[in-house]
Amino acid sequence: MISQIVSQTVSKTVSKIISNERLSRDFYRMRVECPNDARMGQFYMLRAWARYPVLSRPISVFDSDGGTVSFLYKVIGKGTEIFSGLKAKEDITLQGPLGSAFPEVTGKIALVGGGVGIAPFYLAARQLKSAHPECRVDLYLGFSDGAILTDDYQEKADKVTVNVGGFITDEIDPAGYDHIFACGPEVMMRALYSKCREAGAAGKVYVSMENRMACGVGACLVCSCRTAGGNKKVCKDGPVFKGEAVFEE
Ligand code: FES
Repeated sequence: MISQIVSQTVSKTVSKIISNERLSRDFYRMRVECPNDARMGQFYMLRAWARYPVLSRPISVFDSDGGTVSFLYKVIGKGTEIFSGLKAKEDITLQGPLGSAFPEVTGKIALVGGGVGIAPFYLAARQLKSAHPECRVDLYLGFSDGAILTDDYQEKADKVTVNVGGFITDEIDPAGYDHIFACGPEVMMRALYSKCREAGAAGKVYVSMENRMACGVGACLVCSCRTAGGNKKVCKDGPVFKGEAVFEE
């Protein structure tokens, strides 16, 4: 039976950065000291400034070993630009882990990430294989330009398929999987969902939505998302939803 784990933990802590490495022109990976029980698909609100740019930034958990948490992020604005300049031993404020996780499933599982949407699937591959070593986890990673971290992902999955500059959704046969998880641009997830629907596999799909956020803890409506069950808060009711709930509304 599929169980979806939802954490209500919203603790805020000032934590020490262990490393903050540049992986490509725009992508960085930051590792931070932080005891945690983060699950695949959850996120933290991060901030490293007193006032400007005002809002903390939601960043997906890339990995966790219980005592540290890692984030994969892309520089796309002032907040992430500030993150990119942080050094080891400097402080950063974390709030989390927040939001719903991908369900713990077994069988044949496809994890489909586009751009920075690949972030949750490193921990997902690790947690799925650790809970059910017999399951098969195939990763599909799509990039608009250079690929990153493919060797790291290869160590955690049974197969890794990479597409640069094209459509990662073209590479997947929905009939080959029991479960399909997706994270990335909405247009990519919608195309994947349509492909699965045509193959009679719509019920296999879970998606992680990347709506803009402000508070990150359900106290405003900035992240509101229409679903089959009415308007939902992506930060609190999601970010992980059944594909049918989001794309059949
Ligand atoms: Fe405020 Fe989601 S960001 S309710």
